[in-house]
Amino acid sequence: MKPDRERMLREMGLGPVWKLRVPPAAVPVGQAATAQPAAAPPLAEAVPAIVPVPDSAFVAPSGAMGWEELAATVAACRQCRLCAARKQAVLGVGDRNADWLFVGEGPGAEEDARGEPFVGQAGKLLDNMLAAIGLKRGADVYIANAVKCRPPENRTPAPEEIAACSPYLVRQIELIRPKLIVALGRPAAQTLLQTDVRIGAARGRLHDYRGVPLVVSYHPAYLLRSPQDKARAWEDLCLMRRTMQERKGT
Ligand code: URA
Repeated sequence: MKPDRERMLREMGLGPVWKLRVPPAAVPVGQAATAQPAAAPPLAEAVPAIVPVPDSAFVAPSGAMGWEELAATVAACRQCRLCAARKQAVLGVGDRNADWLFVGEGPGAEEDARGEPFVGQAGKLLDNMLAAIGLKRGADVYIANAVKCRPPENRTPAPEEIAACSPYLVRQIELIRPKLIVALGRPAAQTLLQTDVRIGAARGRLHDYRGVPLVVSYHPAYLLRSPQDKARAWEDLCLMRRTMQERKGT
């Protein structure tokens, strides 16, 4: 393995695929990629295509809606059943003028409690992945989710829940105007690309979201369970970094 690649994988908390460096119980939270939680539900491989909600069911945020109004609208949203069990809606976190936008699936229990995306185990891995390409949460990076409210039992959000919530993500993207969007996992990719994508087929190349390059990659929670795909995740990080460098002319 090239030293650069090895260093990056270490930053991501991803050791060599063939070697478990420490027993799972002893893995520090920030390096949990080699640990495989026994009962973690599979992420989203069976997510059906997105079903748009009827126009009458939703008043989309207008092009004039700024961050404060958007945050208040999301906080009070009752457009789908996910509002019933949430502690709070989780809008997103980070630099509202970021060049980088990462989009996950939906808040889990810790995110629901704290009101910030990716603060649990998968979030620690995401932070390590960001560090691997010289990025830091909040510094030129914004992190959001396809749905803003926690799906009960951490299930995959249903197509109608994603459809009800996606106007908020659309408005966030309009406000942030990122140079690159990264869709982490299948629900995020489907939401943004509006097609029934599979990660294996969609990753490794550039997509287009309304003129903004979009890279599809594995969800960090999936990588925690499936370290055999860590090398592909590394390739995706390289594609992201290269794409951003090209966009910035650096
Ligand atoms: N998984 C996600 O997709 N988003 C979060 O915010 C946390 C875990």
